[in-house]
Amino acid sequence: MRHSMGFGTIAVVAGLGGLLFGYDTGVISGALLYIRDSFRLTGAMQGVVVAVTLAGAAVGAALAGPLADGLGRRTILLFTGLVFVGGAAVCALAWTLDVLIFGRMVVGLAIGIASMLTPLYLAEISPPEQRGAVVTINQLFITIGAFLSYVLDYAMTFLAHGPGAGSGIVWRAMLGLAAVPGAMLLVGMMLLPESPRWLLSCGRSDQAYIAMRWLRAGAAPTDEFEVLRRDISESKKNRAPFSRVFARNVRRPMIIGIGLAIFQQITGINTVIYFAPTIFKDSGIASSAGAILVTAGIGLINVILTIVAMRLLDHVGRRVLLLAGLAGMFVSLLVLSACFGIGLHGNGGHEVALLIVVSIAAYVSFFAIGLGPVFWLLIAEIFPLAIRGRGMSIATVTNWAFNMLVSLTFLDLLSSVGQSTTFLFYAALTALAGLFTWYLVPETKGRSLEEIEMEMDGRVGQLRVEGTELLNLERDLDT
Ligand code: BGC
Repeated sequence: MRHSMGFGTIAVVAGLGGLLFGYDTGVISGALLYIRDSFRLTGAMQGVVVAVTLAGAAVGAALAGPLADGLGRRTILLFTGLVFVGGAAVCALAWTLDVLIFGRMVVGLAIGIASMLTPLYLAEISPPEQRGAVVTINQLFITIGAFLSYVLDYAMTFLAHGPGAGSGIVWRAMLGLAAVPGAMLLVGMMLLPESPRWLLSCGRSDQAYIAMRWLRAGAAPTDEFEVLRRDISESKKNRAPFSRVFARNVRRPMIIGIGLAIFQQITGINTVIYFAPTIFKDSGIASSAGAILVTAGIGLINVILTIVAMRLLDHVGRRVLLLAGLAGMFVSLLVLSACFGIGLHGNGGHEVALLIVVSIAAYVSFFAIGLGPVFWLLIAEIFPLAIRGRGMSIATVTNWAFNMLVSLTFLDLLSSVGQSTTFLFYAALTALAGLFTWYLVPETKGRSLEEIEMEMDGRVGQLRVEGTELLNLERDLDT
């Protein structure tokens, strides 16, 4: 079975889930300004409209793993495309607030499923030496989706008083637009094959071989396939029910996955991603439109630095980038805290304001080369195949739960202890994340998923010998 899609195109189609994740979480801050007027929302109800999506995402992520382990990665991604389209349509047509809240919850479900399944599928279809870059297409798309939503928010500020603004047409268009990439994901996944690794784990070798050949553009992947088949039948001996996620040999990946999930959120990234316009405006740095524009600039920096990370992950390695990224985030947060401590008024106010913008940009840049992509990449790599979906679900649910916690507490924290102490607090948590990484996070660059599984399992001696053999085989195939 031959086809004309390059591997890049395949990865991009599968990565559309990331685009929807970024767009749908980003678009709400701008859309809310208009929804508020249409439904005369109180502050608390605005919080509900935002939080219901994050809660839906946590539920979606919890369901996605067991479903993907049982029914296959492709089937569930297909279904996610459908849910995205349905959710976007419900939001665009919402005739009452309850319908809108329901629609946003459905969109949240789809975001949660896509957030774990996209990196999982990408990791399972890519060759080891490109896996870092391929899986990071997911994070790249998250940042592109968020950037697009900021640009749209900015464009909409010009329509705020234009014709139709009061009728809700603006927010309906903003929320409904997500149906387009949703439909593309749905159609695209119909063309793509199931993950060969998942097929092999179900004993469907013939289909797995066909899928693998399709992914390698029709070339016979005989050696690569044989190595995979042998390793997967080895790891299947360990197969067990859900209780396996508590087994001793899964403890290490579990601690790393959950730990990184928590640190990715409690180091504060979404205070910037969701509230940057508020931070800029409240500090008197910019007007409403100006604040959104600066936010779009920061969104663009996030995209660019994620591309840099894609180029480095498979060469420099995950660990080095994670540690360097965390160190940079730590310093940026300290500078930010100091700036707010000094204050923006009096002599030098302008310089301090500029330094605030620069340190927020630096903080996002360091997140984009480290903790942003590396968290999603590592959780797709470190769990054994037998429980990969379920392990990733647990890490992803944790990530969404802490996302919600930080988003819900940030504004209160700001008003009770002030900006300087708030950012100092995030700096301290970033230092903790650095220690966690230093002592616990392994390097996974260039190894096959099965080799990583053996290492995590403690079967390292075997890995050393077989690892060399495996890498050589896969490199030979590539050249
Ligand atoms: C995180 C999101 C965050 C985004 C920002 C992702 O890796 O999981 O919570 O909003 O990066 O780029």
